[in-house]
This record gives sequence, structure tokens and C-alpha cells, in this order.
Amino acid sequence: MNTERVLTGIRPTGLLHIGNYFGATRNFLRMQADFDCYVFVADWHSLTTHPDTAELQNGVRRVLAENIACGLDPEKVTLYIQSDIPEIAELYLYLNMMAYKGELEKTTTFKEKVRQHPDNVNAGLLTYPVLQAADILIHRAGKVPVGKDQEQHLEMARNFAQRFNFRYGNGETILPEPAAFNYDGGELVKILSLNGEGKMSKSENEMNTLYLADTDEMIRKKLMKAKTDQGPETGHAPKPDYIQNLFTLLKLVSTPDVLNHFEDQFNQSSAGNCVIRYGDLKKQLAQDMISFITPIRQKAEEILANRDYLSGIMRHGKEKARASADETLQLVRKAIGVTYY
Ligand code: TRP
Repeated sequence: MNTERVLTGIRPTGLLHIGNYFGATRNFLRMQADFDCYVFVADWHSLTTHPDTAELQNGVRRVLAENIACGLDPEKVTLYIQSDIPEIAELYLYLNMMAYKGELEKTTTFKEKVRQHPDNVNAGLLTYPVLQAADILIHRAGKVPVGKDQEQHLEMARNFAQRFNFRYGNGETILPEPAAFNYDGGELVKILSLNGEGKMSKSENEMNTLYLADTDEMIRKKLMKAKTDQGPETGHAPKPDYIQNLFTLLKLVSTPDVLNHFEDQFNQSSAGNCVIRYGDLKKQLAQDMISFITPIRQKAEEILANRDYLSGIMRHGKEKARASADETLQLVRKAIGVTYY
């Protein structure tokens, strides 16, 4: 195994869906074999939008259970809860001195949150990217797998690290700058909502999102209602987004034979001669999606039912993560000079 550190955080709000699985989770599964991985549940970040904290309790356990059910191995990766690591909060405090109000206010995600919740523009929301930088820098992780929406935050983490090193490093790199990481030149699978309107999303649009917690009937119901149309106007027609999305899903969960069968039917179809039947495609896709999701759902339920097992994993992860965090914090305190005896 490469000893390079890769780190990622998952917010515990909402259920995991197949867009998360094929866009992110599947990459972590691959990374855990190749790198020294740190994966944590970002519960402090969730507090910035003031969620119901009783729901957060369930959300944290569920997100852990679902990730483990997907194949994340708590023996291989350091899997922990952000709020179990007080060292992150201390580093956040120091990094806040490296972050300027103007740049924080200009952050895209912050502006978006201000638009959504004009009544809750709190300082935690403003400094969200600083906390995220602390998450990464506390383990001196070199690589962070990020989607488009997180690139700016990673860039900010690099800036804070650079300023910290410049101010306190005395020519040395105390906090290495983290780089974005993707496999294979970064081909990320993007899955659309089943009505074709935007990315599949965690909390909005529930009937158009396939969750890893969905029952067989629910999966079938959602897929049978997925948006389609009359069929292609000409042979070998370009596919509209929402049709391409169904093919993408077929490619991910069905056999190559099944995919080719429907690709051929699509290409042979034209106005007045529609060979492809979207009803059949969706029926087959539902079947294959059920075969994919059911074992994960069942495993997650099993894990959730065993409170002690999950508590043990959190405790174990906390121990490993704190040991690494403490090492960094010693270096940081020494560099700043907040060591008085
Ligand atoms: N902000 C990330 C998200 O919304 C979650 C996150 C928090 C994170 N800290 C992180 C991701 C550190 C990567 C690294 O998805």
C-alpha cells in the first residue's frame, strides 16, 4: 500500500443515493486498497445550517452504516466522527487567523447558503471552508477526492496552509498543501434526477432519487415513473439527457448484453418505427437496480441494528484519528509558539 494520505468528509444529512455511490463512494472503495485513507462524518459542518440534532444522531449512524455496507472497511480506513476530534477545532481556530472576511464572503457555497437561508447567516457558515481546511490539514493529507462543488474549498485550504507556512514555518512546510484527487484523469459519473432535472440530490426531489435505503417496490415505482418520451425521431439519434441517464444506469448495474440490446434497439428506432420500448427498458433496469441495492440496504439495516458494533467502530476510529491529529497539533503549536513551558 502507498502510505500517502487521502482524506474525505461526508456530511451526515440525508440518505445516500446511487448518485453518491457511483460519483464518490465507489472511488473510496478503490482508494482504501491503494492509500492510507481517512474518512470521517462531518457533523460539525452540518450544524452550520441548524438541523434537528436528534435527526443528526440517526444521520451519523446511518451514513456510517451505509458506507460500511457499501464496502468501506473500518479496519483499512481510519473511519471517525469529526466532533470526536477536538484537535480539529483548535486547528480551525488558528486557521481562522489566516482567512480573510472578503474571501470567505465571496465563496460560492456561502453565497448560495445566504440565498437559501437569509435568516441564518451565522459565522460558522462563513467559516465553513476554514473548518474544512482544518479537517484536511489536521492529518496533513496530501490528497482529497473532490467533486466540482468542492474545488473552491480545496483551493482555500491550500491558501490557508500556504499562509500558515509562510507566517510560522520558518522556511519549513508545517502543513502540506492538499491536492485534488481523482482516478484515471478524473472521469466522474454524474447521475441525473429521474425526471431529468439536474443532479440526483440528497434531500430534494425524493421520488426522483434512488436511495440505497429504498425498498424493492419503491425502486420499481420510481424507475417506472422515470421521464421518457415517444422515442427517437431518426436512427442513431442523439439521446436526450433523461434517456442517456437511463442508459448510464443500465451500464452501471446491468450486464453488457442487456445494455447492448437496448442500445441496438434505440439505434434502430425512428419516427413511425419505434423498436425500443422504454417500458421494457425500465422494467429490466428496475430488476437489475434491485439486485444491486437490496444487499446494501440489508447490510446497512443489519449494521444499524447492532448499536454496539457501530459504537465500537466509532471508538476505534477516534483513537486512530486523534493520534494523528495530535502529532500535527504539536507541530502547529510549536511553530506558532503557543508553548510557554
Ligand atoms: N464540504 C464537504 C461536502 O459538503 C464535506 C467535507 C467537510 C469535506 N470536510 C471535508 C470533504 C474535508 C472533503 C474534505 O460534501
